Amino acid sequence: MNQPKKPASSASRYTITAALPYTNGPIHIGHLAGVYVPADIYARYLRLTGNDVAFICGSDEHGVPITIKAKKEGVSPQDIVDKYHAIIKKSFEDFGISLDNYSRTSAKIHHETASGFFTTLYNKGEFIEEVTEQLYDEEANQFLADRFVIGTCPKCGNEESYGDQCEKCGTSHNATDLINPKSAITGNVPTLKQTKHWFLPLDKHEAFLREWILKGHKKDWKPNVYGQVKSWIDDGLRPRAVTRDLDWGIPVPLPDAEGKVLYVWFDAPIGYISATKEWAAREGKDWEPYWKDKDTKLVHFIGKDNIVFHCIIFPAMLKAEGSYILPDNVPANEFLNLEGNKLSTSKNWAVWLPEYLEDFPNQQDVLRYALTANAPETKDNDFTWKDFQARNNNELVAIFGNFINRVVVLTNKYYNGLVPEPSEFSQIDEETLATVKAYPAVIASSIERYRFREAGQELMNLARLGNKYLADEEPWKVIKENEARTRTIMFVALQIASALATLSEPFLPFTSNKLKDILRLCHNEEQSDVVISSNKEIATAQKNKSRKDTLSWNDISLKDTLLPVGHQIGKAELLFSKIEDETVQAQIDKLLATKKANEAANKAVEPQKETISFEDFTKLDLRVGTILEAEKMPKAKKLLVLKVDTGIDVRTIVSGIAESFTPEEVVGKKVTVLVNLAPRALRGVESQGMILMTETADGKLVFVNPDDAKVNNGLHIS
Ligand code: 2FM
Ligand code: ZN
Repeated sequence: MNQPKKPASSASRYTITAALPYTNGPIHIGHLAGVYVPADIYARYLRLTGNDVAFICGSDEHGVPITIKAKKEGVSPQDIVDKYHAIIKKSFEDFGISLDNYSRTSAKIHHETASGFFTTLYNKGEFIEEVTEQLYDEEANQFLADRFVIGTCPKCGNEESYGDQCEKCGTSHNATDLINPKSAITGNVPTLKQTKHWFLPLDKHEAFLREWILKGHKKDWKPNVYGQVKSWIDDGLRPRAVTRDLDWGIPVPLPDAEGKVLYVWFDAPIGYISATKEWAAREGKDWEPYWKDKDTKLVHFIGKDNIVFHCIIFPAMLKAEGSYILPDNVPANEFLNLEGNKLSTSKNWAVWLPEYLEDFPNQQDVLRYALTANAPETKDNDFTWKDFQARNNNELVAIFGNFINRVVVLTNKYYNGLVPEPSEFSQIDEETLATVKAYPAVIASSIERYRFREAGQELMNLARLGNKYLADEEPWKVIKENEARTRTIMFVALQIASALATLSEPFLPFTSNKLKDILRLCHNEEQSDVVISSNKEIATAQKNKSRKDTLSWNDISLKDTLLPVGHQIGKAELLFSKIEDETVQAQIDKLLATKKANEAANKAVEPQKETISFEDFTKLDLRVGTILEAEKMPKAKKLLVLKVDTGIDVRTIVSGIAESFTPEEVVGKKVTVLVNLAPRALRGVESQGMILMTETADGKLVFVNPDDAKVNNGLHIS
């Protein structure tokens, strides 16, 4: 066990934000591993340790990605955001992401807040107003900003950089900086056209940003975040337009700005503020301390492609406004890959959360655990279904679940579910209990340093400790000769189980609740005798604040006894169940099918052959025939020797289809035959014609098949 470097934090106010997802598709495992699972672990931990937490998120409903999706589906941007907002919100709830508010940037409060923010900066003279030449698509009749334009990144040479940001190196730039820009709408090379915009002079904020990021560095910000931001500042910052010529977004609140909207990256981070306002109004709280009290810690959970916006542009906006606090930390994660390939919404290379929830009902914690154990904290990581299965079967089932099951079953068997009175503690018992007491600080230390992977492994180490303790002390053997010693062993094991129930909450919230129910470590205040155990019931009771846990995080180290003697526990229930090979194979097969479909879609279509005359075509004598016999050509992988009834005769045709069909499959098939092809010998067998074949889009060989036509042999095809 690692020793904690510092004690758990004292009670404070935290505003925790999780990147607002674009509302152009459902959430996938990359989003979960990079942002939402770590943010949720952090928020849950802080609440458990008695802090005042606002955990905020919402749908990012403006910007070009939404417009592009709407165009593709032939619907309005509003239809797209309504559809995906509902899907994302529900999947977060079902997955147990414990947001205090999931808002949306189309909400009235957000439009007001973002417009107000812009107006404040405008009135303070914080913008440069300038007419400049911007990229324009003459055919689409539209200015090209952000994802509407693709070109070569001036910094890293990536040929598929967007107009506002290169996803490869993370740099943010102006669309006119792109080399060889092309319209993503028509593919045309854009022209330049004059238009007026409002620019945030980032260069003016350079000194402050430099000092602020250095402070972060001293506070141990993640090296990837500090390194990137420092290098951008060192490269020199330039004014960035915060308005766009688009018809989807928040209108620029100025009289001379018709047809112009706020840049999505200007409005989206303000969404954190509006979502906090919406939540506070609902809860009867004041939102301002969460954004303006200097003792509040503001923490942004994001993916690495969002660093520039959260560490340069948004802080510059907050500083320019003047009354806001700045982020205390921006723990950005790297990317998660899937089975060795980059996750991609457009290529459908993803594990989608709504599908996971359907395919693995009540197994939210398994995915949470697998993603935490494999979190891309310091480098890109790979999710594989085999690893997911192994994490479940070898850790959750074999260690955590096995320990709890043994403790609960034996307590019920030996003591009718009552916590037994211990006798003398051995040295092992004392050491074990002392180690348990140290765990809250150890796990807390990892969480507070944003090392969620390490924290999750420490939790599993506590379960390992319990498992080993039982395996070494063997109460099932000891009971035969030493009843007093058995009571002590079971008492100690029950204390470990109680610690696990509490400390697992941030990582495995559904399991933690189930375990607290089994151990009766919580009660429902309205109906104190009712044990609530379904995920839905637990969520409702927690929301209504009627469900109370009897142990807090800190109790695990402070209390000598977590489950008192005589406490009644419930019956055993399995916390986890084994995931079978077939189950993960079905998921792997799904991905293989996606891969095949993508390959087929990308397959270069062979160019059309030279044009032939009609006379040439009429020379072909095509007939409908039936394959009477088929056998493999010896020592030839690809060839079948066929006997075909052509209607004129029965002849031998050698056909290169053996890799796609077995002889049995083709016998009896009606096929189209070219009967007047000059005979030629193939491996010593004379082939007297040709069977016509073609390929489907996914590369499968099929017969040019007259079966459906119910035609007779020998029919002349013309
Ligand atoms: O990258 C994205 O998915 C953005 N929609 C994140 C926005 S975070 C914030 F600033 F709102
Ligand atoms: Zn780049």
